[in-house]
Amino acid sequence: MCPVHVRRPEFDVGRSLLAGVLNVNRNENFGKLRAGYLFPEIARRRKAHQEKHPDAKIISLGIGDTTEPLPKYIADAMARAAAGLATREGYSGYGAEQGQGALREAVAATFYSGLRTADEIFISDGSKCDIARIQMMFGSKPTVAVQDPSYPVYVDTSVMMGMTGDHNGTGFDGIEYMVCNPDNAFFPDLSKVKRTDIIFFCSPNNPTGAAATRAQLTELVNFARRNGSILVYDAAYALYISNPDCPKTIYEIPGAEEVAIETCSFSKYAGFTGVRLGWTVVPKALKYSDGTPVHNDWNRVMTTCFNGASNIVQAGGLACLQPEGLKEMYDMITFYKENARILKDTFTEMGFKVYGGNDAPYIWVGFPGKPSWDVFAEILERCNIVTTPGSGFGPAGEGFVRASAFGSRENILEAVRRFKEAYGNK
Ligand SMILES: Cc1ncc(COP(=O)(O)O)c(C=O)c1O
Repeated sequence: MCPVHVRRPEFDVGRSLLAGVLNVNRNENFGKLRAGYLFPEIARRRKAHQEKHPDAKIISLGIGDTTEPLPKYIADAMARAAAGLATREGYSGYGAEQGQGALREAVAATFYSGLRTADEIFISDGSKCDIARIQMMFGSKPTVAVQDPSYPVYVDTSVMMGMTGDHNGTGFDGIEYMVCNPDNAFFPDLSKVKRTDIIFFCSPNNPTGAAATRAQLTELVNFARRNGSILVYDAAYALYISNPDCPKTIYEIPGAEEVAIETCSFSKYAGFTGVRLGWTVVPKALKYSDGTPVHNDWNRVMTTCFNGASNIVQAGGLACLQPEGLKEMYDMITFYKENARILKDTFTEMGFKVYGGNDAPYIWVGFPGKPSWDVFAEILERCNIVTTPGSGFGPAGEGFVRASAFGSRENILEAVRRFKEAYGNK
């Protein structure tokens, strides 16, 4: 007889199957999560709208997914790598879990010259996945601070890990929400922020589009140093920064190497949202209270829970960092930034309070006093345009919607026309 049945005599198979449930308890942390992850909920509402209005040509400025085709030099490099896999000389199987040496060197030279070394850079299948794996390294005990509003993944993965209490109607108990709004120029008043073990910080920020200045980041790094906290710095949009006063990596700030992990991605630089490639930097100088380098544990996470990014995709990443690929990447960023300018100018001309858009592909539009899901619904109804309700990014996002600049020029211009028609005389 199967030993499993012998060990679990109390398991009444017939009854459980009839009830339609298993004999396994749910991880209670998942029950704390809000109704759904923000973007699937937006997709659900979009689908319902389309079903109600089958002829509507919906334009999405919502999820923040790239739209333009891959640049040719970069795509060709991946096509060559894929074709090579069909040859004895070009074939490779598992690679180093930390990423190919040449790509780690190229990332270090291109983005961290003189600041970080290649062995501190871990290539991955993207920043979102790295954020989740970083949480695995921390476990359930640490306390967490996030910018409010912020990319929902920091909060939701903290909830999944069990770092928080329940949702109290506004936010999760146990999370320190660092309010970022027009009154503080979207940088938290750190004198009012409680010490936490982990601080998630994203600059340029998704969703507000605000990029932190050197002075602000110096304040943040000093705050983390004073408190002995780990700063998880999300630089996924760093190359969108135009303002010379805003650093493109946290390691430009002296002392950051002792407190900061930085994660970044090719997603919004080269249109790799579907291709999947990113990296995370863990300096060797970053040490837990017992003196263990965080780098050791991150290496352990990546070698145990990840098996290296696709070799084809890493060839694409390497191409991104050659002169031709870099030019293609910057051209793509320039294109989306022009979209952002068009959107920002439109909302400004119509008399809205608009933020972001200069150093990021996101425009943060104020609708003071209006619940942001209502604004989302109204824009969808009146313009057939999907935006993102600000409250989905945290309590301080209430009263705002985010418009993404990822779209074809044709769609952005059409969206602008519809916005003007609906809100031009507000
Ligand atoms: C702030 C931020 N970090 C990380 C990510 C995820 O990047 P990736 O596609 O590399 O997983 C996104 C994607 O929208 C993002 O906005």
